[in-house]
Amino acid sequence: MSRSLRAELLAWLLLPLVAVVAFNGWTLRLDATRTADLITDRTLLASARVIAEQVKESDGRVESLIPPSALEMFASPDREKVIYRVLSPSGELIAGFPDVVEPPKPPQGLEPAYYEGEFRTEPVRAVALAQPVISKVYGGNALVIVATTLHGRDRLVNEIWQNSLRDQLLLVGVAALLALLGLRRGLAPLLRLRDELRSRDPESLKALEPDRVQGELRPVIDALNHALERVRAYILLQRRFVADASHQLRTPLAVLKTQIAMARQDDDPQLRREALSAIEGGVGSMGRLVNQLLTLARAEPGGAAMRKEQLDFGTIARKAVEGLGIIAFDRNIDLSFEAPDAALPIYGHVTLLHELVVNLVDNALRHIPEGGRVAVRLASSDAGILLVVEDDGPGIPEADRERVFERFNRLAPSTVEGTGLGLAIVKEIVAAHDGAIVLMETQPPPGLRVEVRLPTADAAAKS
Ligand SMILES: Nc1ncnc2c1ncn2[C@@H]1O[C@H](COP(=O)(O)OP(=O)(O)OP(=O)(O)O)[C@@H](O)[C@H]1O
Ligand SMILES: [Mg+2]
Repeated sequence: MSRSLRAELLAWLLLPLVAVVAFNGWTLRLDATRTADLITDRTLLASARVIAEQVKESDGRVESLIPPSALEMFASPDREKVIYRVLSPSGELIAGFPDVVEPPKPPQGLEPAYYEGEFRTEPVRAVALAQPVISKVYGGNALVIVATTLHGRDRLVNEIWQNSLRDQLLLVGVAALLALLGLRRGLAPLLRLRDELRSRDPESLKALEPDRVQGELRPVIDALNHALERVRAYILLQRRFVADASHQLRTPLAVLKTQIAMARQDDDPQLRREALSAIEGGVGSMGRLVNQLLTLARAEPGGAAMRKEQLDFGTIARKAVEGLGIIAFDRNIDLSFEAPDAALPIYGHVTLLHELVVNLVDNALRHIPEGGRVAVRLASSDAGILLVVEDDGPGIPEADRERVFERFNRLAPSTVEGTGLGLAIVKEIVAAHDGAIVLMETQPPPGLRVEVRLPTADAAAKS
């Protein structure tokens, strides 16, 4: 499922905000209740004081007159019930309702005590106030209790609370709107980039401009561009391979076609046989060419995924040289091979390493005059494996030693058959194994000495 960045960012912004508002709403309600209680308590105390002032002794009896103003204080649209009770110092009910809630504990001294309770199933808030009675008969305090129902208080709490909660919710709404606008503006470059990528020509691998997005997104664009660059290089490689292959195959195919047509016309069996063996030779060299092209495609960076393994370079080189013995024999060349007894561990691709040796020795065998000498030597050192292929042919002039590594580049005039891919392949293989190759003059000249250095398996593992 695809996730929306905008929704996610908005959620991360708004959910904590809603949580904060909820917490704030709760504390707000507590505060509102406290404030409303304070107001109720003031009125309760004032009313209790007015009643208390009227408690006096007359004719040896404690009496209490309830002045109307003491109850009018509570007048409100909420039809609040006001209940009171006055007890004489001896505990006798002298005014009010007998069932008014008792305070949980009697007031300390003359300090009023506030408390909550129930009066006939209705919740009430009450004050208990001690009033000293000056009398010769009685000593002590009368107790005045005034209680009121809480409709007014609850309404006040709700009003305070709801109003500010509404304001806060409004604030969250405005914040959401602003956040949405901000996100839209903030994400606009990214969305523009998406649209640009969508509407792109499928062939286009042009890099994206990193300046068009915010700094935080630049690494993403850079990585994308990097990937595009690699794709471009890979496509270029494929195109070049196809172009190379078709170019190189066109001529021999045309030649083959002519040879076949001619063979068909020839009635003389001898001539026919000759034509057929020419065709066989042509097919053989085309096979070699196809092989070379495939090797090249495989060795190139980004070419077919290379599976490297632990190998012994000595064995590979020996096999490659042995395979070329027939050419040496054919051209009467003294081909020698020298290698240390110990294994030469290398971490590499077996086919590619085989091709490396074959191409170098093949060059030496074919580019020198008949009857010459070719020596292949292997050595190992701390620096790695050293492969030397030396011949006593004409060598390669210093000015051409770079050029011969390019594809299809051959030294003119060359009477030797070939396509000029051999050294290009060698160079790619050496690079694919993190090695190095140098062409130099033999001592004494003339002749070509090729030195290839390859890291041993241990060195390759460390790097
Ligand atoms: N040992 C050598 N002695 C003299 N010249 C050489 C030697 N090796 C290579 N060259 C020169 O370098 C050129 C490039 O060699 P490369 O192996 O790339 O191509 P090639 O041998 O001509 O063709 P291919 O190997 O594709 O069949 C050769 O054409 C040849 O002129
Ligand atoms: Mg060659």
